[in-house]
Amino acid sequence: MAGRFITLEGIDGAGKSSHSSFIADRIMARGFEVITTREPGGTALGEKLRSIVLNEKMHGDTETLLMFASRTEQLADVILPALANGVWVLCDRFTDSTFAYQCGGRGLSESRIATMETWVHGHLQPDLTLLFDAPLEVARERLNSGTNAPDKFEREQGEFFSDVRAAYLKRAAQFPHRIKLIDSARTLENIRTELGFLIDSL
Ligand code: TYD
Repeated sequence: MAGRFITLEGIDGAGKSSHSSFIADRIMARGFEVITTREPGGTALGEKLRSIVLNEKMHGDTETLLMFASRTEQLADVILPALANGVWVLCDRFTDSTFAYQCGGRGLSESRIATMETWVHGHLQPDLTLLFDAPLEVARERLNSGTNAPDKFEREQGEFFSDVRAAYLKRAAQFPHRIKLIDSARTLENIRTELGFLIDSL
């Protein structure tokens, strides 16, 4: 049996990464093997692309192409082989991030990103996308209390994150069967109960 493909999404500071190990444990508790990975990144070349795209100033089209370049490597080397072997894949960000950040945030054309999506993974969509959502002020506060230096995206100001969030919410409304909106402002226990239910129903 093929593995399941689960992606984690949300604006920076919405708290998605803190749930990754809980979700992986829950999958293993069901008796499946799981790998966790991230985008951009996840392969040796992808991680090099990540450090470029998260730190260098560049044209929005270049940024988008590099996101899909990293994704192409990751699909070929990690995601597709794992799924074919019955291994579940838990990926921190995927193409919904490109629609939210490059289209919503940067204003790139949605149809161009859709064309690249078809090119790179026309045959594959996540089985489940967990979209962690929190008010902008909550997310901003979480980011500011972190210890890591902010990357290029985290330094964005003004409308950027409200545009990214709006683009995410639009996608959740467009694909309600795949994308589950997780209200991240609740208690950890509350969120985990819902995550457990969603994972167990896959
Ligand atoms: P993330 O791994 O969540 O950052 P961190 O580990 O620092 O919390 O995400 C890296 C950044 O890349 C994030 O700001 C969103 C951005 N990104 C895009 O703009 N487009 C994409 O397609 C992807 C995958 C990520």
